Amino acid sequence: MPVHKLVDTCAAEFAAETPYFYATYEDEDEAPPLAPPKVAVVGAGPIRIGQGIEFDYCSVKAAQALHRSGVAAIMLNNNPETVSTDFDASDRLYVVPLDAESIIDVLAHEAGGRLDALPPVIVQFGGQTAINVAADLAAAGVPILGTDQEAIDIAEDRRRFERFLRELGIPQPPGAGVLSLEEALATAERIGYPVLVRPSYVLGGRAMEVVYRREQLERYLVTSGAFASGRPVLIDKYLDGIELEVDAICDGREVLVPGIMQHIERAGVHSGDSFAVYPAVELPHEHVETLVRYTTEIALALGARGLINIQFVLHEGTVYVLEVNPRASRTVPFLSKVTGVPMVEVATRILLGQTLAEQGYRGGLWPRQPLVAVKAPVFSMAKLHGVDVQLGPEMKSTGEAMGVDRTFEAALAKAFLAAGLVIPPGAPVLLSLANEDKPAGVELARGLVALGHPIVATEGTANYLRAHHVPVELTVAHIGHGHPDVLEVILDRTVRGVINTPGRDEGTIQDGFLIRRAAVERGIACLTSLDTARALVRALLGGGASYTVQPLPAYRTRETVPALV
Ligand SMILES: Nc1ncnc2c1ncn2[C@@H]1O[C@H](COP(=O)(O)OP(=O)(O)O)[C@@H](O)[C@H]1O
Ligand SMILES: [Mg+2]
Repeated sequence: MPVHKLVDTCAAEFAAETPYFYATYEDEDEAPPLAPPKVAVVGAGPIRIGQGIEFDYCSVKAAQALHRSGVAAIMLNNNPETVSTDFDASDRLYVVPLDAESIIDVLAHEAGGRLDALPPVIVQFGGQTAINVAADLAAAGVPILGTDQEAIDIAEDRRRFERFLRELGIPQPPGAGVLSLEEALATAERIGYPVLVRPSYVLGGRAMEVVYRREQLERYLVTSGAFASGRPVLIDKYLDGIELEVDAICDGREVLVPGIMQHIERAGVHSGDSFAVYPAVELPHEHVETLVRYTTEIALALGARGLINIQFVLHEGTVYVLEVNPRASRTVPFLSKVTGVPMVEVATRILLGQTLAEQGYRGGLWPRQPLVAVKAPVFSMAKLHGVDVQLGPEMKSTGEAMGVDRTFEAALAKAFLAAGLVIPPGAPVLLSLANEDKPAGVELARGLVALGHPIVATEGTANYLRAHHVPVELTVAHIGHGHPDVLEVILDRTVRGVINTPGRDEGTIQDGFLIRRAAVERGIACLTSLDTARALVRALLGGGASYTVQPLPAYRTRETVPALV
């Protein structure tokens, strides 16, 4: 058994009183076990794409809630560069690897070596990292507070999850897990293209792709070595529609839904990379009810305790469940701020045995707040050399910004501004659109012209726009096919905004990549989804000049405080 040593923050000059400990193999132990009651929170580990600072927020809030409830909070994390590992974030911090063995060592230490009296742990706030150790902890007999291992397994195991939803009568995209190329092609044929493929057990949509044709599927499966692990590859019908996200809190009897967020980009752009808006401003009431009903049914049937996150897609009038995460999600900090429901605190108190009712809450949808809040993804593309900025089901963002105001347009305008997606007034904008996006591009281009932005376009796009009576200031050649070519106008900053939607036509893929990289490296706003571009134009047309500056809580009331600036 390892012993636990104090991190000496005073370099032996004074007696250090910091509550940080680390494990090592030695004789003397410097961490006398805390007095019960105590609960350990498994943190989120390194901050990385797909698992960002949001989960650190949740871990910190959980520790604070434990402390306020008179329970000593023990933080377990392996990343010193976070808030959860600050000296005052918990009652005691162990900087240890986040694997079951190291965690159990700490718990056993805190139990004075008694394996039958281990303090309980919470795994639902540390993102996928924490959830991933749940099975091993449960198998070793560690008491886990909250949604139990059985429910976590149902949500994560494809076959069990399918059966679970079918029994509830809740639709999900048709699909299957397959183990061979033949099986994959047959499945795709059966459900029809486009399909979404990915290896199972990935997070952040890693290696996930929307595939439109048989040859493309074959190439993906061969080049990605997807079958090498022996685990199934998942093939789902790609449903083009509005993606929606719900976070809820369940005490086993009632389910509180603080809010629903609607994505601005259609499904297929990873939820972590899409703009999203609270409340779901354009969602008809009947669908809001369906979402709340499905969320309630799923949470209760799973036996969830604490937080649960569900992603949906609304496709041709039907709501489908894409995914259930039996844990806190990336949107919890955002929704807590905009709705005023301290979601992690409420969930933590449920884990300690209180009900929603005892905390003054009840089931159902929390009253819609008199504000609109837009989440904008923030990328680090300029620092990630050679990465394509094109959005897809694989997550690429490294953070997020929040725009809050009274109207959708004003909130959008703030969010774009905060995310650094700004086109200087009157500056030319480059449009290079995939064929399937050209019709919708006409309206977009008209909006840009109305805002005083001259249009620069690649040939096909320029012809299409002119044919629809949209003035195009300058037509540029494809890369290397004349002067100026599309790359040159970006590199010399003739254009100050780029809207490039990637086509499915293989010939344009490489050009698109170079265009987008050039824009990023020149610090020029680059949008790769027509949905985002449309939102930007909408924000500029409707909200840019009229946003308000208020403290966040004031937006949750109808009152207005004197302007701050
Ligand atoms: N059947 C589908 N149809 C359309 N888009 C989908 C479908 N399944 C997943 N997606 C898209 O892929 C993204 C990532 O998929 P998801 O199942 O949420 O994986 P992750 O575990 O990475 O969050 C979603 O946010 C959504 O945009
Ligand atoms: Mg997801």
